[in-house]
Order: sequence, then C-alpha cells, then structure tokens
Amino acid sequence: MGRIIAIANQKGGVGKTTTSINLAACLAEKGNKVLAIDMDPQGNMTSGFGIDKNDITYSIYDTMCGNCNLGEALLINVFENLSIVPASRELAGAEIDFINTEDKQYILKKTIKNIRKKYDFIIIDCPPALGILTVNSMTAADTIIVPIQCEFYALEGLSQLIYTIDLIKKKLNRNLQIEGVVFTMYDSRNNLSQEVVDNVKNNLDQIIYNTVVPRNVRLAEAPSYGLPINLYDSRSTGAEAYRKLADEVMKNKLFLK
Ligand SMILES: Nc1ncnc2c1ncn2[C@@H]1O[C@H](COP(=O)(O)OP(=O)(O)OP(=O)(O)O)[C@@H](O)[C@H]1O
Ligand SMILES: [Mg+2]
Repeated sequence: MGRIIAIANQKGGVGKTTTSINLAACLAEKGNKVLAIDMDPQGNMTSGFGIDKNDITYSIYDTMCGNCNLGEALLINVFENLSIVPASRELAGAEIDFINTEDKQYILKKTIKNIRKKYDFIIIDCPPALGILTVNSMTAADTIIVPIQCEFYALEGLSQLIYTIDLIKKKLNRNLQIEGVVFTMYDSRNNLSQEVVDNVKNNLDQIIYNTVVPRNVRLAEAPSYGLPINLYDSRSTGAEAYRKLADEVMKNKLFLK
C-alpha cells in the first residue's frame, strides 16, 4: 500500500510546490510509482510539470465534484513513473461549492481510495491556507511534510499549523502523523538561515530531515521550463538536495506499511 504525503504549511511561498514537484520527481527517478495531486487553485504544481492549465479536460476539482472519475483526470506517466492529477481555478470555489456536501472533509480521501494501491507514493501539494482543501488533503494523507523557509518569520504560524494537524488527528484522521519538517531556501552565506534552523530545532518537537534544501536559482528556473529539477539540471545543488530528501523519505521505515 502506498504512502500518501501531504506537503503543507499555510504560510505562502515557503517551498511547498517546489518540494512537491521535486520530491515526487526524485522518488519516481528512484523507481517508485508516484502520483502527484495538485490541490492548490493556483495550479503551480500543474504548470511546473509542464502542463498547460488551458489544455486540461478534467482536474482534481472535477473528480471531487463527481463530474468525472479519477481515471479521467489522471495524466498518466507525464514523466517516467510519475502521473499527475492537475488543478484548475475552480478549486478556489471549493469552500462554497462543498459547503453542503455530506462528509465534505473526506471528499479527496474517497476520491483516491481505489487507486492508492497502484502507487508507492502519492504526493499532495496543498494551498497556502488551512481551509477545506488542506483539510481534505490532511484527511486523505498518512503523513505530512512541513516545508519551512529559512527566514525570520519561519516560526510564526507553525503553532497554528500543529494545532490544526492535532485537531484533524482527533476528529478526522486518527492515523495522521507529521512525517517531518524540511528546511528550504537555506543560504549558507547568511547567518540568519542557520539561526532559523537552530531556533526551529530548539522550539519544535518534530522530526527534522537531515536534508536542508539550499537556495538554488536552478530550482526557481525549472518550473518555467516545465521540468522537475532532476531533469532540468541533474547536477545542481537543488537536484542533489531533493534526491537526498527522497532517500530519507524512502528510508522512513516508521511509516512503511
Ligand atoms: N530552494 C529554493 N531556491 C530558490 N528558489 C526557491 C527555492 N524553493 C522555492 N523557491 C522559489 O520560491 C518561490 C516560492 O516557492 P513555492 O512556490 O515552492 O512555495 P509555495 O509554498 O508552494 O508557495 P504558495 O504558498 O504560493 O503555494 C518560487 O518562486 C520558487 O521558485
Ligand atoms: Mg504552492
């Protein structure tokens, strides 16, 4: 049975999508069958994988609404071993669209129930909010990876995130675990980056990945070419970091079923 990992942090611009795209791609490169699901109305993961949002027939929104089944929205093997369910702008209306839907926190879980056994990993890119889309992602997930940007305000909002995760654990998904925290955009020339890492380590009682993702311009460029970092610049420091993170995620025996 595959592991479903939600990449979540309600703070914007911390590296959720960069981590989703490149962790998914590096897990696929290592031979795992991977499905990446874009739950963000911004659709950055969709376009980062080179998919034109205007060309999509069905998105994760359509499957959640029952307009189509998941198979119809699935873009199979966009890259080797890596399939994608794209997002569309309509997701932005989910809060209202699903207001009266029965078990509205479980829509995504039900949607992907039948296909999870086909994949080793399902990676869900969450939007920068703690609304219905993130709640659905966390309810469907086995574990959560929290990217933290190495900047001054890194700790702000984390307690709210941990509180939400605990609440979801209590009320909606008993088995949910925080798989780990990963630092992103680390700048070794900047003392602040190391201070943030130390500060979070001292204040957050969570597993922290040894891999620290450096600030790397190739990681910022890759989405505009529609390629994950391992295919855009295989030898960049960004590609090395996400390969190491993929190794750590694969070794995380605690979560293997
Ligand atoms: N390690 C890195 N090095 C350099 N640039 C990075 C790195 N990680 C992310 N970025 C850049 O920082 C910006 C924000 O990253 P990203 O889109 O992954 O964050 P996000 O948390 O998904 O944002 P949002 O909350 O809007 O969904 C993007 O322009 C991205 O290219
Ligand atoms: Mg994003």
